[in-house]
Amino acid sequence: MDETRMTGTAGREAGGENDPRTGRAMDTVVRTRGLTRRFGSFTAVDGVSLDVGRGEIFGFLGANGAGKTTMIRMLCGLLMPSGGEATVAGFDVYRESEGIKRNIGYMSQRFSLYEDLTIEENIEFYGGIYGLKMDEIRVRRDALLEMLGLQAEARKLTRDLPLGFKQRLALGTALLHDPKIVFLDEPTSGVDPRVRRAFWDVIHEESKKGKTVFVSTHFMEEAEYCHRVSIMRDGKVIALGSPGELKREYGRSTIQDVFIEVASGRTAAGGGEARAGGSGDSAGPAGKGGEGS
Ligand SMILES: Nc1ncnc2c1ncn2[C@@H]1O[C@H](COP(=O)(O)OP(=O)(O)OP(=O)(O)O)[C@@H](O)[C@H]1O
Ligand SMILES: [Mg+2]
Repeated sequence: MDETRMTGTAGREAGGENDPRTGRAMDTVVRTRGLTRRFGSFTAVDGVSLDVGRGEIFGFLGANGAGKTTMIRMLCGLLMPSGGEATVAGFDVYRESEGIKRNIGYMSQRFSLYEDLTIEENIEFYGGIYGLKMDEIRVRRDALLEMLGLQAEARKLTRDLPLGFKQRLALGTALLHDPKIVFLDEPTSGVDPRVRRAFWDVIHEESKKGKTVFVSTHFMEEAEYCHRVSIMRDGKVIALGSPGELKREYGRSTIQDVFIEVASGRTAAGGGEARAGGSGDSAGPAGKGGEGS
């Protein structure tokens, strides 16, 4: 297989990118060139170049250990790159991580709320971290609780919530300050299909409002909901395009089949086995037990 084969415009120099939804020049909010992160002699992210546009839902696929979380942490200003360039909302990841943090929401792969705080305390805590004033926090907290149907539970400990509610609450807190870009690292891992659908309703709403959503997932049907997806293997982006483009390019009828061809089985990816196969529908990816709380 041609390792560098790409659909769409990955790796093109800045300024040349067109938005696949409109065909017009893209309003780029995440831009990377040769972004690299090494841990000792191991290269977890290896020269990734991407442009992601305003309002775009950008799916981040790859087998376990492919480098998705490492990439997201660099883009959130939480982890220094070893090389290459990246700007997020116009801010440089090396020098302007504070600017990045003001403009993004982040839902980490591990459950990110405090189990020992009540639901409303968690919302208030994150509102404070994101720099909102208390009266603003109250308004947004009440709107979020209402949206989730959690008004009656607001004073219960977060640990007592079912996982699906916790994940929706975590998504709500990541959006609390109305950031330009939200990074969601496997947000629907371990939750049932109904909750996943509710999640994607929120993601599409936010995208329509102009928010950029950067989302990693092992659920291949979720990849189909993205405007564009990238597939990583061994730290490199090896395929990139809209779901339709990738399916045409690889002559497959589903993204799951594209994924299996490009991301799994061909080489032993650093962190273990690909697990996208068979995870497309109901229950959830195998081998994710214990994730999330
Ligand atoms: N702090 C670290 N020190 C050493 N190696 C690390 C560190 N963080 C990540 N790695 C390694 O980098 C590689 C990429 O990890 P990463 O968590 O980015 O993968 P991922 O694509 O998010 O995988 P998953 O789908 O399992 O979440 C893995 O081999 C991982 O073991
Ligand atoms: Mg990860």
